[in-house]
Amino acid sequence: MSSPVVLGIESSCDETGAGLVRDGVLLGHAVASSMDEHARFGGVVPEIAARAHVHSFAPVVHRALSEAGLRMADIDAVAVTTGPGLSGALQVGVAGAKGLAYALDVPLYGVHHLAGHVAADTLDHGPLPDPCMVLIVSGGHTSLLLVRDLARDPIVHLGDTLDDAAGECFDKVARVFGLPYPGGPAIDRAAREGDPRAVRFPRPLTGPGDDPYAFSFSGLKTAAARWAERHGGGPLPVADGAAALQEAVADVLTRKAVAACLDHHVSTLVVVGGVAANSRVRALAEERCRAAGITLRVPRPGLCTDNGAMIAAVGDLLVRAGAEPAPLEVSIDPSAPL
Ligand code: KG4
Ligand code: ZN
Repeated sequence: MSSPVVLGIESSCDETGAGLVRDGVLLGHAVASSMDEHARFGGVVPEIAARAHVHSFAPVVHRALSEAGLRMADIDAVAVTTGPGLSGALQVGVAGAKGLAYALDVPLYGVHHLAGHVAADTLDHGPLPDPCMVLIVSGGHTSLLLVRDLARDPIVHLGDTLDDAAGECFDKVARVFGLPYPGGPAIDRAAREGDPRAVRFPRPLTGPGDDPYAFSFSGLKTAAARWAERHGGGPLPVADGAAALQEAVADVLTRKAVAACLDHHVSTLVVVGGVAANSRVRALAEERCRAAGITLRVPRPGLCTDNGAMIAAVGDLLVRAGAEPAPLEVSIDPSAPL
């Protein structure tokens, strides 16, 4: 008998994702984003996100199945993000996943969204070494995690942001700079024409007495806003501001991630989440990992941002580890701890 096919469903924020994984191999996936509908509000509106999931759920599952060349009856297990995330958004995915699992009479697995981001890399680069250090950088998270066996061992949470996530910092500063939402890709594009040394933005929590694994980005947002104010009236050199901000964020993220690897004698760093798509974060991570003798793994950009394939990847690990499925009563957990 061939290995089970796992359908993964993701709906914790503004992306509806479905993915199919068998034996660690990605068979097909599809994502629908409601990002454009949130753009004029400058951030994700939970009610709009939930409605968009209702709209996109079935078509996205259908597209993932078509891409994989599979039919509904080929699904052997369903995995779904139960948290953390926006409650209304999570509920749509979990309700849909339960309906499918019940109708197909297959087991259901609840998946932690961050475990999904970590597992995304296995779809591009194979099983994760035990242990590995993971830097998750997205619009909602900036965390350093020590990961052993994803299906069996608890993830050790080394540190987090004390305020804004790195992606949130990009999104907020982009607004101040008059760049479109989402700000991260817009800052990345604008920075190509800029000089990162034109402004020296602070490097928060990198002092001798600071928590080595904690992050803080709200001060950077304020520093960028002050810098913009000082140009009041005159044209804002946005490219320079974007390049300097990106440099500050990339510097802090990669410095702390590499230090965490060295402190814990871990030789592999995995960088995941939407901000892992940032060109300067990727380049500086490569440079610093090479210098420190650390292997760097970053999944392709389409698997860095929220998607269903990463949830299927965790489901596949759970199935193969013989984990207990979730009951059909399983609830969402919007603020799920690791
Ligand atoms: O992982 P993700 O898709 O969703 C969350 O779970 O948050 O990450 C979205 C975040 C947004 O803040 C977006 O601005 C940021 O990732 N982002 C980037 C880039 N692409 C996406 N930030 C910097 N540079 C990029 N190229
Ligand atoms: Zn995410």
